[in-house]
Amino acid sequence: MRILMVCLGNICRSPMADGWLRHKTKQHGLNLEVDSAGTANYHVGKKPDHRMRRLSLDFGVSIDELRARQFSVADFDNYDIIFAMDQNNEQNILQLARNNKEKEKVKLLLNELHPNQNLEVPDPYYGTDANFKEVIELLDHATDAFLFNHQLITKQ
Ligand code: 4NP
Repeated sequence: MRILMVCLGNICRSPMADGWLRHKTKQHGLNLEVDSAGTANYHVGKKPDHRMRRLSLDFGVSIDELRARQFSVADFDNYDIIFAMDQNNEQNILQLARNNKEKEKVKLLLNELHPNQNLEVPDPYYGTDANFKEVIELLDHATDAFLFNHQLITKQ
């Protein structure tokens, strides 16, 4: 299965979601292909935000090798599930979809953890280390819920 994590800048939330899923793919020996992208192009080519890179290491996950890229229509061909971090991202991705099959690939990540609630991963960019840490923990739980829901792990 091919999974794409998407946020606005691709420097905070989606690289961390990507990092967790790559980490768990390796840890559990899963057959997942994982990447991330941003709906905006502000940070293309940059490493993830320095706060996310530093704090992710406290959780045993390195995201230093990731580089921001912008979501493109070709991602609908290359991924099976496209997880948006918030409803704005979701709408921006849906606007690029060419048909219903592509639209069906787009989901809110937190619906894995809290089905049908359409909750959003808060944007930590203008926040504190504590906000970044909360996002890292939320993304840990959400990626576990995704793996559990798809029967790729047996407990969360
Ligand atoms: P992200 O956070 O979407 O989680 O990567 C943001 C990063 C940068 C900006 C906004 C959100 N920005 O406005 O530059």
